[in-house]
Parts: sequence; C-alpha cells; structure tokens
Amino acid sequence: MLACQPVIAETLFGHHPLTAQARDAFVNDLIKKMTLDEKIGQLRLISVGPDNPKQAIREMIKKGQVGAIFNTVTRPDIREMQDQVMQLSRLKIPLFFAYDVIHGQRTVFPITLGLASSWDLDAVSTVGRISAYEAADDGLNMTWAPMVDITRDPRWGRVSEGFGEDTYLTSQMGRAMVLAMQGRSPAERYNVMTSVKHFAAYGAVEGGRDYNSVDMSLQRLFQDYLPGYKAALDAGSGGVMVALNSLNGVPATADSWLLKDVLRSSWGFKGITISDHGAIKELMQHGVASDPRDAVRIAITSGVNMSMSDEYYSNYLPGLVKSGAVSEMEIDDAVRHVLNVKYEMGLFNDPDSHLGPKGSDPINTNAESRLHRPQARDVARKSLVLLKNRLETLPLKKSGTIAVIGPLADSKRDIMGSWSAAGVAGQSITVLQGIRNAVGDKAVVRFQKGANVTDNNGIQAFLNLYEHAVSVDPRPAEKMIDDALAIAEKSDVIVAVVGESQGMAHEASSRSDITLPPSQRRLLDALKTTGKPLVMVLMNGRPLALVKEDEQADAILETWFSGTEGGNAIADVLFGDYNPSGKLPMSFPRSVGQIPIYYNHLQTGRPYDFQHPNKYTSHYYDAANGPLYPFGYGLSYTRFTLSEVRLSSKNLARNGSINASVTVTNSGKRDGATVIQLYLHDQTASVSRPVKELKGFKRIFLKAGESQTVTFPIAINALKFWNAHMQYVAEPGKFDVMIGLDSARTKNSVFTLL
Ligand code: NOJ
Repeated sequence: MLACQPVIAETLFGHHPLTAQARDAFVNDLIKKMTLDEKIGQLRLISVGPDNPKQAIREMIKKGQVGAIFNTVTRPDIREMQDQVMQLSRLKIPLFFAYDVIHGQRTVFPITLGLASSWDLDAVSTVGRISAYEAADDGLNMTWAPMVDITRDPRWGRVSEGFGEDTYLTSQMGRAMVLAMQGRSPAERYNVMTSVKHFAAYGAVEGGRDYNSVDMSLQRLFQDYLPGYKAALDAGSGGVMVALNSLNGVPATADSWLLKDVLRSSWGFKGITISDHGAIKELMQHGVASDPRDAVRIAITSGVNMSMSDEYYSNYLPGLVKSGAVSEMEIDDAVRHVLNVKYEMGLFNDPDSHLGPKGSDPINTNAESRLHRPQARDVARKSLVLLKNRLETLPLKKSGTIAVIGPLADSKRDIMGSWSAAGVAGQSITVLQGIRNAVGDKAVVRFQKGANVTDNNGIQAFLNLYEHAVSVDPRPAEKMIDDALAIAEKSDVIVAVVGESQGMAHEASSRSDITLPPSQRRLLDALKTTGKPLVMVLMNGRPLALVKEDEQADAILETWFSGTEGGNAIADVLFGDYNPSGKLPMSFPRSVGQIPIYYNHLQTGRPYDFQHPNKYTSHYYDAANGPLYPFGYGLSYTRFTLSEVRLSSKNLARNGSINASVTVTNSGKRDGATVIQLYLHDQTASVSRPVKELKGFKRIFLKAGESQTVTFPIAINALKFWNAHMQYVAEPGKFDVMIGLDSARTKNSVFTLL
C-alpha cells in the first residue's frame, strides 16, 4: 500500500481547473481509487475537543477516518492536521476546516439580528467580506453561516443568530452574505465556503422552545420559510446544514423529501449537506429510528452527506453496505459531494491554500493589527435602533455629569454576543469605555453596576455552565441599588445599560418570560425615582417585552450585542456624532401572551379595528392590540416626511412592470439616513393573503432640508404566492401598495393586476 503513495500524491495535487467538468472527472477518478472505509471516512466531520483529543485525531487521520474538522481556529493547529494527512494517510485527501463564523471571526460585528436592523446590504457585504478574510487568514475553509431561519417567536434564543421575522429581508441579506463570503470562488485565498442553515424551518419550533418540533402548512413553508435558504443557494452557497427539528413529523435529518426532492431535484443544489451536531444519533430520540444502525441507514438514504460530531457513520455504514441495506452507490454519492466541495475549495490544487507558506503564521493570533475596527464601528452604528426619544432627550451633551449604570455597561464579554467565534472579549469596547472615549475630559462620567444581570441563582449557574461568562457581584441587591442612586442623584443624566447577558440569547437559551430580569427592573424603578432624564441602552438578542420601560424611559436605544466596537458605536449615537437609522427586523410584543406576533399575518374574518373596537373581533381583551414597536420601526434625530404614493400606471400587465414612487424629505435639522419600505397586499385572492408583505426597501441618506424620490419597480413575481393546490401563482385583481418608514404607518395606493 505504501508503495503507491508517491503516485497518488502526484495525481492528486497539481493544477486542477475550477470547472465542473474538470472537477467531475477528477472526483470520479479519485472515488475509484478509494476503499469503502476511506469513502466512509470522508463522511465524518469531527470537532476537536475533549471527546476528540489531538492524538486520537492523528490516528483517525492516519486511517483515513475523517473528512473534515471544526472548532480548530489557528493556523498552526490546522497546519499540523493537514500535514498529518499528507504524511500519514494513504490517499492524502485534504481535510477541510470549518467554524461558526456568524458575525465575525476575530473582529466581532453586531449579532445577525442587529445586522438585519441596518437594512443595509452593503453593511452585510462588509461583515461577510471581513469575516471571510479573517476566517481564511486563520486557515478555515468553511463557515456555518448564514443562518436564515425565519422566526416569529422571540422566546427562541436563536432569533439572535438570524435576520428576523421577514422572508424578503432575510433572503436579501442571506444572499448578500453568501456572495460576500464566497466571493468569486471559495478557493481564493481570502474567501470561505458558506453552509446555509438550518434546513429547514428551525426558527418555527413550537413555543420558541429550542429543538422542539415544527408543524406547518406547505403553503406557509414555501411562502415564508424556504425562500431564505433558496436565496442563499441561488447565490451559490456550497453547503447546507440540516436542521435538528422535525417538520410535520419528519426530522429534517430523515427527510428525503426535503433533502432530495426539494433541495436537489427541485432546486438543483449540487453542494454538500451536513447534519447538525449529533443529529443522526438523535433520530432515535425523535422516535423514527430503532437503533444506531437504523438511524444511519435513514440519514444516509435521506440525503445527509456528512455527519457532524457523531461516529455513527463510521461505525455502522460498513455493516450496512455489507448487508445490502445501503448501496455503495449511495455512499459514492455522499462522498462525491464531499470531494466536490473540497475541489471547489481549491484543496486539491493546494491543501495549504488557506494557510499560506510555513513560517508565515501570525506570531500573535490575537494581535490588535488583525482586527478591522473602523468597519466594525461603522456597521455597529448602523445596527442601533432608536425606539423612543421624548422631548429630544438624545443626543446627549458632552458636558456635565453622566451616570452610567447597569450590569451590562462595562461587560466586555456580553457586548460581543453569542457565537462570537475567535473574538477576544478583552478587545471589545464596552458602553462605559465608549462614553469615556467620546467625552474625554469634557464631562464627568461615573459608573455603578447597580444590579446583577439576574439574581436568580439557577439562571446564573445556567449562564456559567460552559464558560465563566457572568461575574456575580457579591454586594446585596439593595446595596448595589443604593450605590447606583448615589451617583445618579449627583448627575445630569442617567444612562442605564440593561437587558440580557449574551448567554440568555443563544442556542438552548429559550425563555418563557421576555421581560427584563427582576434585579434590573428593581434598579430601573429606583433610578426613575431620582427624576433625572433616563436614557435606556438595551443590550439583548431578541425582542423583549418593554411596556414598563417604555413608560419609564425618556429615551431608549436598542443596541443588540454590537460587537468589538460596540461601545464606541453606541457613544457615537448617544452624543449625536452619528444619527441613528436602524429599523427593527422583528416586531416587539407587549407580552409573551401575544406571541406569535408578526406584521405579515393573514387577514381574518373579524379583524380588530382600534378606532371602532368591537367585542367579536380578533384581539385580546386584556391588552392593547398590536406590538409595542412594529416591524420596520426606528426613529432618527431628524424628521423624514413622505409624499403620497405615485404609480406610473394603475394597471400592471402580467409581463409588464409599474413604478411606485414617493418623495422623501428630510424636514428636520440634522442630516441622516432612513429606510423606505415597500409593502404589498393582495386584496382578494383564492386564499387569504397577509395584510401586507415587504417587497422592497431602500436605505437613503438626506441632508437636512433635502428631498429625494424613491422608486420601486413592481412586477408579477412580487405578487406570486402558493395557492391551495401548491401552485405558485399571481391572481388578477387589486393590490394595495404601501410605502412607509415602518410597517405600521404607510402611504397607500392601489393598482390592478390584469
Ligand atoms: C449546533 C448548532 O445548531 C449549529 O448552528 C452550529 O453550527 C453547530 N452546532 C456547530 O457549532
């Protein structure tokens, strides 16, 4: 066997043109040389960690039992493993290396929900480009992103990882992210391949409880939940991560309809499908597989090419093939997808393509010079959403005394958010630091923590389960509040930085209560008694129920988890060096009882009209109807006004297009950006249609006093929907056109589809 090594090495590596034809010829040839065990080895993706120490991985590499690695993030570590492949394995098939680069690798950008709040595709491209650059510079080839799960339930902790509740916004942003990360080709030195996730409909887990099941109509699935994945795939995403949930009773990992009929046959996907962490094993827990062997048979025949973090494929596929329960063709098909993506990553041209020459590794992986701070600050500023600004409390003056209070005000870890990849907490700028940087010696800044994020011991322990993420201040709660009041009373304004610690909005962090924890509520109540202007800076990874806070605060700035430069960006907005322009990508409910609440809900037979309330209409009698802050909402320090909607024609021919325009005027005193949003509504159709659906948006910048006409072309594709027979159609009739600065307040017109 050893004798053939040089020959194989020669034939494997060389200049392989990155064309589908050359790839197919190469991969077919390679598969012919592989033993069954080597093929099965390629289907295994393992995480480096306590379960798989380096020595064990070395042995696996030697035996050709591993195809890819994740959770290794430095060039020396990656190089070591790739070298082992070249030195020890028979076929020398390079590994690929993957990681959760969701909102940055070393430079941490705002969490995805924050990025979505920018409604700025250029900002998404910046995040995608820099994340890919830094990831590739660390030797990585693939990222588990973008996450395009539509979600209408803020109880789900993973809303922080996605682009929010809307299909159109998510699709646009997912697409931009893929294009930015993969560039012209993932083989290029500073690009990475994306793996869009979690296919499919993970964001609709019942009750917002993570890993729960999903049950929904095919119409809703195709209309609202699938387009995000499709958009990422049409943009060329090389990978798909399969969801952990079941959909209409079938776990995605066992769903050949989803993974073969929809993904491959109907959509023409040619890349690789990868199970989520341990999902193949979980088929037994789902109750669709009787034992491990059964789970493996089901997963591979359903179309799961590569298994993440379980040894089941390696352990059971050989026997399954031997017994004829799984054909070798099925294995070849899965292996072909793995080898194809390795080919597309350029690994057969150069297994070290993302490593660069030996000796070029950074001396300090965490070096400050490796960060992209100006871009992080710019994107973070665009992600901030001004929710309230009574009597122009904001912007603040850079003078007097400012009391900065709150458990999140000086937390370097929290501001980075969850899934902060290889970001280093020590390098992030907190809100306190940002404020100090902004005012220099022009104002006095005093800080008190005021409260712990939570006083609940159980939740504290939960948050510190895998990393020491939350430090608990030992002072009694009353003492912390008194200390905070002491500085608040002597100040001109209070900036209260409250919300969630990053671990509260994460995988496996679902909440049944989305209000601020009681420790922070008590702090706010106490601060309110001082009568000082109260500016609330919110840090959180999901919409929160903020009825009380909305009453108490003079101004509220939603900052999500804004990343490495978050503190500076927040200070830019607080002091008016940047005029806020972010818009909510998710509705903010008044209470958990209103969930699910989303702007594009279907019409009902008895709609509630708040101007003419009627008992027998669709509403809750014990609460105000509608969200506290609607989808698309966000204020500015200036005022934008919109003209009536002008249509180029009142009729749209089926093969034609019409333009809807508004003139936007900055009628305030400051320059600023805003987002003009286009919504459509099908008045009468064969099925009930949503009251409105986002179909276009444009971010514009206007100097004070300036006007601009914004025009949206409307063609038949924007009017199509899945009817009761699962046909994708546009039905003739009247459509409302609504254009506004948010989803609730719009200027309207009507046209007819002929
Ligand atoms: C499980 C998560 O569901 C998924 O999003 C992530 O990419 C993998 N673990 C790998 O970390």
